[in-house]
Amino acid sequence: SFHDNALIVVFGASGDLASKKTFPALFGLYRENKLPKVVSIIGFARSDLSHDQFRDKVSKHLKYDKNNDDHIKKLENFLKICTYHRGSYDEAEGFQELEKSIVKFDNDNKLEVSNRLYYLALPPSVFTKVATNLKKYNYPSDSSKGSARLIVEKPFGHDLESSRQLQSELSPLWKEEELFRIDHYLGKEMVKNLLPVRFTNTFLMSCWNNQFIDCIQISFKENFGTEGRGGYFDSIGIIRDVIQNHLLQVLTILLMGKPEDFTNPESIRNEKVNLLKAIRTIDFNDVLIGQYTKSTDGSKPAYIDDETVNADSKANTFAAIALHVDNDTWKNVPIILKAGKALNDSKVEIRIQFKKSVADIYENSSRNELVFRIQPDEAMYLKMNIKLPGVPNKVSVSDLDLTYKDRYSKEFYIPEAYESLIYDALNDDHSNFVRNDELDISWALFTPLLHYLESDKGPSPELYPYGSRGPEGLHEFMKKHGYDYASNE
Ligand code: BG6
Repeated sequence: SFHDNALIVVFGASGDLASKKTFPALFGLYRENKLPKVVSIIGFARSDLSHDQFRDKVSKHLKYDKNNDDHIKKLENFLKICTYHRGSYDEAEGFQELEKSIVKFDNDNKLEVSNRLYYLALPPSVFTKVATNLKKYNYPSDSSKGSARLIVEKPFGHDLESSRQLQSELSPLWKEEELFRIDHYLGKEMVKNLLPVRFTNTFLMSCWNNQFIDCIQISFKENFGTEGRGGYFDSIGIIRDVIQNHLLQVLTILLMGKPEDFTNPESIRNEKVNLLKAIRTIDFNDVLIGQYTKSTDGSKPAYIDDETVNADSKANTFAAIALHVDNDTWKNVPIILKAGKALNDSKVEIRIQFKKSVADIYENSSRNELVFRIQPDEAMYLKMNIKLPGVPNKVSVSDLDLTYKDRYSKEFYIPEAYESLIYDALNDDHSNFVRNDELDISWALFTPLLHYLESDKGPSPELYPYGSRGPEGLHEFMKKHGYDYASNE
């Protein structure tokens, strides 16, 4: 198994994702002694690089403590186990050559067949080619002795049809249990924390329903625009970029029913699918879209100032969508997914608003709100009404506050999302990866909306200045869908 040995190949090794996320995560695991003892990491890409040029490139983004001798040593050793392999994605030769390196690794380590983890940090246009070549040339000769796993990253298609197309190309080659579809939000510690918190705290379990909860908001904000990525982003938009995947996954984990068996990834994913199936078709009137313009002081560019973007682009850099889950537990609780680039802040959080108390004899009482801050600074806090000391009938809102980082970071290492997920994949744990049917439902949910927004009938996005809180209509939109600002501001 992967506990004993692993041969890891990262495709797209000279690209942005690999340098900024995949290799730092692999190094993080190595530094924390979480990779098997017998391990080799091969970067595969088209650029012409020597091993050392590649190592230089990789080392730029690795995180370590310069005053820690162990870290320095680990860094050196890590770079030694990283090698580079040049090859083209659609020709047999590169993969045949790769197989020779793998066989050499096997021989050097006296292994019959090594375990292979293939990580595709690649654009979807070459997924199928690489997956086909890998199956043909680099699949273990005896899969009872060594296994192969394939990690893929979004975008998994552009809409329902293209996602199904991609899946129909991959599934004859790679079995579902060999495939790991990454949604890196599922690797964030605060997201991984949701199920344990929900199902080990009785007081939460008993009020986790529409009798007690009024409205839920899942909000993603970034205080930077698409600078430099405009060309890519223009055909994608914020709904595909973060809502259809990251925010919907968070919603699912937050609201899914209790899995029959927490130790069985399929049981967890079955419950996620049940929840996803209960989400009502999106009403186009329940959607607010926006695009950013120059900042009010003129120092930050408008979205369309990006040279790679059409001057009349209607791409959405902001969207708020109110969803409804039509099951007994969640009927009548609006769930607002909200995401935007170039806003006033960088923050991702879940806000759960409880119903207003009926005991209104107490002045100033406000509804409870439970907040999970996913980033930055992982935290959970609960807004509660507490009687003011010495004052008979007046309460004020106070936070019951758990700043996760303060409480745990001295004792525990909080892993990065990608570290956590690669570790799970090496342990063959699929709980935090997206199953094919989840992916299919998520596209089925958003595709009609996306097609409508991108058609001639689609509305123009509401403009908002770079650095603001979003389109002006947002406040009204949130209130219309039941979000109460009073307890928040
Ligand atoms: C990616 C999106 O999936 O997630 C980016 O393509 C976005 O546009 C990023 O910035 C956000 O991830 P994180 O981990 O920085 O919140």
